Amino acid sequence: MNLNPYFRIAGITILSLLLSAQTFSQIAGNTKLTPVNQARIDALIKSMTFEEKIGQLSLFTSDWDVTGSALKSNFKNLIREGLVGSVFKAYTVDSVRDLQHIAVEESRLKIPMLFGYDVIHGYRTIFPVPLAQSCSWDMTAIEQADRIAAIEATAEGINWTFAPMVDIARDPRWGRVDEGSGEDTWLGCRIATARVKGFQGDDLAADNTLMACVKHFAAYGAVQSGRDYNTVDMSQLSLCEWYLPPYKACVDAGVGSVMTSFNEIAGVPSTGNKWLLTDLLRRDWHFNGFVVTDYTAINEMVNHGIAANIKDAAQLALNAGVDMDMQGSTYIDSADSLLKENKITMARVDEAVRVILEAKMKLGLFDDPYRYCKKDRQEKEIMTREALAAARKMVAESCVLLKNSNQTLPIPATVKTIAVIGPLGDSKMDMLGNWSAAGNWEKCVTLVEGLRNRAGSNAEILYEKGCNVNDDDRTGFEAARKLAAKADFVILALGENGWMSGEASSRAHIDLPGVQGDLAESIAATGKPVTVVLFNGRPLAINRLHLMASAILETWFGGTQAGNGIADLLFGDVTPSGKLTMTFPRTEGQIPIFYNAKNTGRPYNRSDPDAKYVSRYLDCPNDPLYPFGFGLSYTTFAYSDLHAVVSGNRIDITVKVTNTGSRDGEEIAQLYIQDKVGSITRPVKELKGFQKVLIGKGESRVLSFSVTADELAFYHPDLKKYWEPGEFVVYAGGNSAETISQSVWLK
Ligand code: BGC
Repeated sequence: MNLNPYFRIAGITILSLLLSAQTFSQIAGNTKLTPVNQARIDALIKSMTFEEKIGQLSLFTSDWDVTGSALKSNFKNLIREGLVGSVFKAYTVDSVRDLQHIAVEESRLKIPMLFGYDVIHGYRTIFPVPLAQSCSWDMTAIEQADRIAAIEATAEGINWTFAPMVDIARDPRWGRVDEGSGEDTWLGCRIATARVKGFQGDDLAADNTLMACVKHFAAYGAVQSGRDYNTVDMSQLSLCEWYLPPYKACVDAGVGSVMTSFNEIAGVPSTGNKWLLTDLLRRDWHFNGFVVTDYTAINEMVNHGIAANIKDAAQLALNAGVDMDMQGSTYIDSADSLLKENKITMARVDEAVRVILEAKMKLGLFDDPYRYCKKDRQEKEIMTREALAAARKMVAESCVLLKNSNQTLPIPATVKTIAVIGPLGDSKMDMLGNWSAAGNWEKCVTLVEGLRNRAGSNAEILYEKGCNVNDDDRTGFEAARKLAAKADFVILALGENGWMSGEASSRAHIDLPGVQGDLAESIAATGKPVTVVLFNGRPLAINRLHLMASAILETWFGGTQAGNGIADLLFGDVTPSGKLTMTFPRTEGQIPIFYNAKNTGRPYNRSDPDAKYVSRYLDCPNDPLYPFGFGLSYTTFAYSDLHAVVSGNRIDITVKVTNTGSRDGEEIAQLYIQDKVGSITRPVKELKGFQKVLIGKGESRVLSFSVTADELAFYHPDLKKYWEPGEFVVYAGGNSAETISQSVWLK
């Protein structure tokens, strides 16, 4: 064991270290340390100067890739002076070892550093973006994707990831919807839990598990107008009911850290929000890890207009419960004078230092600061065959078949020439999606490559770009049309550039950018059936495309194995099973749009679409283009024989699902419940269960679900959560809009 020299200075015996080391096994991010380890931390805090304490509260980027202005570039000196407790965006064994060496050999107290990174959907093997993964509804595969990400990242020095992002989002204009799991709270909680488990494993001290950081606390997904960094304002009830549960699920799953969000909620930025960070998170949710800001979020409280200057902002943040300042340098610059002026207390500083040191101990860094810097792991555990296979499988599971008239897909075996047309057909760089960590775009498989890999000599794959993603150049249309005319099968590869979703990538118009819509129209005008393969990080408003295409496959940004996974589906080696976790609007004017809306006093009635004094648009139906939960297969499924029976405080449900098509296929069968009458109004439907099942052609499966009354509880105006007796409508179906139903009464 490589013992940190600090403990020799502090006079702690080797024996006590060995004893405590045994207690590290099976440690979770949110558990309290044992008394022995607490004592070790106490001793360390006692020996720290004030500056060294503030150093632990400060996180700086290595400057390798930066999402905002980097305030400090001389960070190696700061590490030496004990003023940097943690670093982010530094990776590879040699680089991390180099920086860690300064911390544990050249600084006075030799405290190891955390190395953070945005490992969001893979580290070197890049998986589909999180929104895509959520469309798999496959918790095991999602957990496995993050397990692989953790294995790869820890093999290159990283021990802390800024994920999962669990912000519920109902507005596709917001570019960051691609980092989350869509619009549904119930599903979001399950995915959040799977992701924390994937990153942290069962034992945080293992050398291949990472500390997770749930973000962005809280409600960042509800920024007004879908504009990034914008204001959030909502009722306390909505906050508790729809937005907070996924963060809570992460805390319950043992997440080790929490990141504050940039936004304000009801007038108070999260980063200075004591109710959020202390009363709710620590007191009510029993969170024992540490809280880090988002990038310079303390400084930004001056712009928010809640602090007159950086010093006031630092005071507000520390007293609200922020333990670590990401990149802002505010604690370094102001904590000393704040302490002298009695505006912050040493007790609060110590508390913040403690939770950060505890995190380092939970990760085993005090025993071996280089435990995540093993060269042999770096060589053996990155982009393994298993990792690539899991990524490929995830691509196929994440894609959603949105349209397939006349069984256009899968590509018939008789096809000899396939034309791929469009700016996303062969663009490796756009496959990764945003936040691609250490992913190498050159290793990505494009659609054209994936099709060629699969077709071999059986079919020729020809490519024309046609146009760029986002300008008005139509000069490539003619060549594209010619190619379409000579091919047996035409695929249009359209969508967004990889950078058009993600942070600071809000869009007011979410249709196809540039002249891609016109390109599609011009190809469709040749009379050839057109299959559209979409690449994008958010739901798009593609009404026009829907009308002209024969088939549409939503593939998101699939990462390293994008092209191979998509080819698996297009050729029918794998049958599509993904289902949308975010509603696709017909037009931006419908936004925000989500399935679990309220009925209103004048509900729109589909069977009387022209009724005047009802809640509707004059120029557009209320219904979305594709509803939540929607996704086609190469086979078809029918739902029948729904039986819901109340037994005590539980509803037991069975439903028969029949594969009515001609291929075996997986179906994601969904269960929704509506609380018909409540003391406050309830949504028209809420997801309460699902099962992903493989059903052979012509076969049926009877699926069973149980929903307890407690699972029907909701927040009341006094913020207490309980259920109310009465009528409940149970819905089962293959998406949120097409269901069969039955009423039951719970007393
Ligand atoms: C983003 C965070 C991210 C951080 C560090 C910020 O701009 O909002 O999600 O973790 O940068 O890269």
